[in-house]
Amino acid sequence: MLHLRRRWRTKLKWTIALIVSLLVGDMLFGGSIYHPLTYIYRSVSLLFCWYGCPLDRAKSIAGNGEMVVTSHHLATDVGFRVLQNGGNAIDAAVAVGYALAVVYPCCGNLGGGGFMLIQLGDGKEAFINFREIAPGKASRDMFVAKPQKLSREGYLAVAVPGTVKGLEYALAKFGTMSREKIMAEAIALAKEGFLVQKADLKLLKFVRQPLKNTVFAGVRQVGDRLVQPELAKTLQQISQGGESVFYRGSIAASLVRDSQQNGGLLSLEDLANYRIKERVPLKCSYRGYQILTAPPPGGGVTLCQMLNILEGYPAQKNRDVTELHRRLASMLFAYKDRNQYLGDPDFVKIPTSMLLSKDYARSIRAKIGTKAIEPKSIGADFADKEGQHTTHYSIIDRYGNAVAVTYTLNSYFGAGVINRPTGIILNNEMDDFTTQPGKSNQFGLIQGKINQIEPGKQPASSMSPTIVKRDGKVVLVTGSPGGSTIPTTVLQVILGIIDEGKDIAIAVNSPRTHYQGQPNLVISEPFALSTQEFQQLWDKGYKIVPFPFWGAAESIFVDRSDKIWQGKDRRKD
Ligand code: DON
Repeated sequence: MLHLRRRWRTKLKWTIALIVSLLVGDMLFGGSIYHPLTYIYRSVSLLFCWYGCPLDRAKSIAGNGEMVVTSHHLATDVGFRVLQNGGNAIDAAVAVGYALAVVYPCCGNLGGGGFMLIQLGDGKEAFINFREIAPGKASRDMFVAKPQKLSREGYLAVAVPGTVKGLEYALAKFGTMSREKIMAEAIALAKEGFLVQKADLKLLKFVRQPLKNTVFAGVRQVGDRLVQPELAKTLQQISQGGESVFYRGSIAASLVRDSQQNGGLLSLEDLANYRIKERVPLKCSYRGYQILTAPPPGGGVTLCQMLNILEGYPAQKNRDVTELHRRLASMLFAYKDRNQYLGDPDFVKIPTSMLLSKDYARSIRAKIGTKAIEPKSIGADFADKEGQHTTHYSIIDRYGNAVAVTYTLNSYFGAGVINRPTGIILNNEMDDFTTQPGKSNQFGLIQGKINQIEPGKQPASSMSPTIVKRDGKVVLVTGSPGGSTIPTTVLQVILGIIDEGKDIAIAVNSPRTHYQGQPNLVISEPFALSTQEFQQLWDKGYKIVPFPFWGAAESIFVDRSDKIWQGKDRRKD
């Protein structure tokens, strides 16, 4: 009751603000009258806030030597209990990975893939790439001249999943606890079910056919119990038999049968041949901080490029329009390179050292003047033309280990298909390839030949689990869902901490902007820009559109006295 009243009070507040804003415009807020578009920007921002403005809720939480931040409270609890029972951050990360597959089925998964970045307390670093790969029967033009939805819906959109192998690899190499112990809570949550809350229900709205007539059908209101018996059995099998049940045993057989009967390409060989790629984390630096992030095909190069460009300008605690313009320009250049150069390094040559060199950043800065740059003029519409559906979590343990994991089904509930006997929801990661020359994927990215489909190849990704260190000590563990907005989300969290000296909750919750050149629009979360900034950027030539909140940036900050702070995920529970 109290909760309801508070909600309506907030709505009322924003409604009054909207009416006042429309009636008396900016005079009350900024003291002068601006371009009519600023009123639209402000009104739409206010409308978005009607559904809850994250700044209302920003608060950081202090931890005692260890911390788990995920997008679901039940998965957070699972991870935290592992830490309390003496497990390390990798044990907790694996337990959370399995738990999210149960309690956060839109995004947590067994049927998808992702990246795990590890900083061990003894100084060693690791990056585990368990991203999906194109099936052996996939081909470059398999989606060309076909309805675009084929790369997003149904079995043809499904790439060979890597999650189970990735989690098992991490546990075997860096964990300390038994698989049975690590998976016990996820199994119980699937078998006995859990009571869905408002945030769960919101996500379940994204369930599409044929998922609708499955375990999700019975969950209609807050307090209903979501029980997933098939998934519980699958998890139990993995717990007993390890990843081989998934990749060679009965689960593989079931996935392949379903795929073949429904127009998909998965084969037993695809699953049996799936391999983890352990890589050296990508490294760059920013104002004396060391950044560890995702190497290709992940989004780390894009993040580092933006940081390199911005490092050449003075750090500004209070940003102004010049700083905003530089940020947007750095995004434009980095995304142009992303679409042109980034793909699976096992298949294509990526000029990573050139892209990451400070000289290259300097040459880009030389091109940034005072006005918005027309994307065409730098080839960001190159002629080679051809959201919250992921989830990130960050963990720190008392042994000094830190883990950042971003994993995904790509869209909410992936390809919208579930393998009924196993309860596994499958990804639509094929859509991250260049599927149709000249057409954008669901994140508006128009990518090049470098990212065209080839059997066994991984599609380019924006996922950027990131760890920031100072003098070798972990300062920040971060990452985010959000498709193509991931690198700019991580960028803005880092700038919030390093340049603006914000509290972690404020750095995570501050509304963000994103610009990828194509489409030539800056998207702006509600109130990311003041009316004045909006007007000034518009005058510089940027076209800005208001956009509902994206990203979640589940982050952990360690302050100078080694106190650990949680950057609370702003939209989930
Ligand atoms: O790897 C990628 O870049 C995408 N598959 C990530 C998808 C994602 O973040 C969706 N969430 N909003």
